Amino acid sequence: MKVLVTAGPTREAIDPVRFVSNRSSGKMGYAVAAAARERGHAVSLVSGPVALESPRGVDVVRVTTAEEMLAAVKKRVRGCDLLVMAAAVADWRPKKTAARKLKKSAGPPRIEWVATPDILRTIAPLKKPSQTFCGFAAETDGLAREARRKLREKNLDAIAANDVSKTDRGFEADRNALAVFFADGRALRIGLATKKKCAAALLRALEEISARKKM
Ligand code: C5P
Repeated sequence: MKVLVTAGPTREAIDPVRFVSNRSSGKMGYAVAAAARERGHAVSLVSGPVALESPRGVDVVRVTTAEEMLAAVKKRVRGCDLLVMAAAVADWRPKKTAARKLKKSAGPPRIEWVATPDILRTIAPLKKPSQTFCGFAAETDGLAREARRKLREKNLDAIAANDVSKTDRGFEADRNALAVFFADGRALRIGLATKKKCAAALLRALEEISARKKM
């Protein structure tokens, strides 16, 4: 299969030295990309700014902002069989990026925020019946309810939800536990394990969905 994966946070600039972002380390998305490659797929990885080495054999495209990630995904999504959106896209960006560093002496700046594009929602109309799209949901409350809502609203085939209120898993950790919800109502629990193991288990499930679509 041709697999497209996104990973990491995005970074939205306030001025030339400051930005807003989130705690995503990129480890989960990189593990998905590496696992997909190991399972014999052709993999492209659109990555936000992370401190990780490129997985061997994977075509890595580096981006910074949500807009850049959207453009990179749009360009590649048409040709892919499976899209896994593991990136933690920043939800808001400053309406204007100051061209010069804001002076501390001027006091705390009043920043006007605007929403960044929702990548999955934007590309949903482009989705072909033969394609499989999987999102991620990082939640602190109402994991299953929130994940099922996003699955429906973003027109996904699957969504992998993880609890980010615990320190032994999720953001920045080397381990994770996933609750995967599928469009047909099924759910799959992947217990606390290395992100590598979680990624392999997730991919097995997504390969099955993709294979069924192509029968
Ligand atoms: O709505 P929420 O951000 O929690 O949804 C998470 C899923 O949506 C993830 O798969 C994430 O990559 C994707 N997403 C997106 N564009 C955004 C925000 C999230 O595609 N602006």
